[in-house]
Amino acid sequence: MSLPGTVQAPANARVREFAFADADFEALRVLVKQETGINLTDSKRELVYGRVARRLRALGLQSFIEYRALLERSGAEEMVQFCNAITTNLTAFYRESHHFDFLAEHLKRLDRAGVRRLRIWSAGCSSGEEPYTIAMTILEALPTYPRWDIRILATDLDSDVLERASRGCYSAERVAGIGPRRRAQYLRAVQTRSGPGFEVTPEVRSMVVFKQLNLMHPLPMKGPLDAIFCRNVVIYFDKDTQRALFTRMARLQRTDALLFLGHSESLFKVSEDYELLGKTIYRRS
Ligand SMILES: C[S@@+](CC[C@H](N)C(=O)[O-])C[C@H]1O[C@@H](n2cnc3c(N)ncnc32)[C@H](O)[C@@H]1O
Repeated sequence: MSLPGTVQAPANARVREFAFADADFEALRVLVKQETGINLTDSKRELVYGRVARRLRALGLQSFIEYRALLERSGAEEMVQFCNAITTNLTAFYRESHHFDFLAEHLKRLDRAGVRRLRIWSAGCSSGEEPYTIAMTILEALPTYPRWDIRILATDLDSDVLERASRGCYSAERVAGIGPRRRAQYLRAVQTRSGPGFEVTPEVRSMVVFKQLNLMHPLPMKGPLDAIFCRNVVIYFDKDTQRALFTRMARLQRTDALLFLGHSESLFKVSEDYELLGKTIYRRS
């Protein structure tokens, strides 16, 4: 029973550590869109609260209003941490494995045709599993590999995942999806800070260059790029942002170059510069 004169909270009201008003969510949503292209729908309100609340605690702040003021004041410094908190970094070795089967066959064809130069970009590479899988696929598909000029560029907006990616060190759980033969060939058992783990071999690591890059900013590479992996990244962008990005990516690719998207992404009504070759695999037309 409530005390006289008190207003009882609705039964479904959440008790939060920090007040999180509509205006806070709106302001953060606008900033995220502006900085990263990520379009936060209303359904992401709890996720935003949870992730940004961690920043408030880490900084010893009392409210979202204080945090918004800090974001304005500190410029790039806190913005990097804010973007790191918002991005979703889910990834895995050999994720959507049909892409790597396709890439292997494509590479063998290039090899037979006498091609010896390869440029691949993993755009939104997260903690590195995707570009390292590309490297392993190349090593496996191309016995002539030492005679090739190969570069894999791997980029992400999130500085935390990039740091993990360049260490190339993973828990046993994260490499569980890699079969024993590949594991023996491309990974070495090591002791990590959190227990036994695996690191990718120097050979695999040396094939990948990691760089921080926001896909909303001008793309610094010149191309031409033989393949772009941009998987499970644009799912968070609205159609206009996707259109602008793929127009810029298409300029970096010549006819027949490949573009791989994530399982729930598509270029339908987004780009006419590519034609569909297979499940979420596109060819620059
Ligand atoms: C879900 S992960 C996908 C990782 C990998 N491509 C895969 O499919 O396994 C999406 C990645 O895109 C990155 N990302 C999101 N917005 C970005 C932007 N504007 N510029 C660069 N990277 C971005 C995130 O930081 C995150 O690491």
